[in-house]
Amino acid sequence: MRERVDRATDFLVERGFDGAEIGIVLGSGLGPLADAVEIEREVANREIPDFPESTVKGHEGRFIVGRLGGRRVLVLKGRLHGYEGYDLALTALPIRIMARLGIHTLVITNGAGGIDLDFRPGDVMLIEDHLNLQGRSPLTGPNVEEWGPRFPDMTAVYDADLRRLALEVARARGIALRRGIYASVPGPQYETPAEIRMLRSLGAQAVGMSSVPEAIVARHMGVRVLGLSVITNAAAGVTGATLNHDEVVAAGQAAGEEVSGLVAEIVSRMEAPAR
Ligand code: HPA
Repeated sequence: MRERVDRATDFLVERGFDGAEIGIVLGSGLGPLADAVEIEREVANREIPDFPESTVKGHEGRFIVGRLGGRRVLVLKGRLHGYEGYDLALTALPIRIMARLGIHTLVITNGAGGIDLDFRPGDVMLIEDHLNLQGRSPLTGPNVEEWGPRFPDMTAVYDADLRRLALEVARARGIALRRGIYASVPGPQYETPAEIRMLRSLGAQAVGMSSVPEAIVARHMGVRVLGLSVITNAAAGVTGATLNHDEVVAAGQAAGEEVSGLVAEIVSRMEAPAR
């Protein structure tokens, strides 16, 4: 894994992808956020040596470097998921690469099902903590000491200062940001109503199939994390409606404009962390 990360990082440094402060992972349908970025350089993931190609509709795989809210950002458009058959360590490869390219902060976005009965499609939830229900860890396997410790702390995955900033920016923009716990499940099937009741009893407000492996790897490497979920649908059994991927992607897109404005302003106002 280490050689793979090094090769990809060297390739991207040669192409001028270094020097970004903040990384952003775009969730399904949140491609519009990339349109808000003044793109300096762009590369298809398949051009990066050994990079696994994303196979999901609505997840076009690209790395972008450019400016957003006056800051230099690295954007991953098209994340990798465990359900595509990749090892979780591999799904987090782009995060390792972004950390090696020098980001100090990672903004993770995703589309998620709303478990909380008060949530509505189009709502945005600030992730306060997570449940890793993937059944595995992206840190499985030999630890690379230069990257981080064998047993990293997960007491404060989602940075308190960044959460305060997100709430402040949202309030000023008239966005009623929801808050809650994001449960990450393997997928690719959506949940059953019984599973949603279980997740609710475990304390989750939203459910999705990504993000948590990325957050774990970012924390492993000492990168600060901010997580935002776009509630694309009521989770299974909440309204009785059936779920389908196209509707989930469309709902993400509908919220894209609002979320991209929110993220751009949060990014512009982020302070670099004291290291
Ligand atoms: N369940 C799991 N993942 C999801 C959902 C959902 O309801 N909506 C968007 N991603």
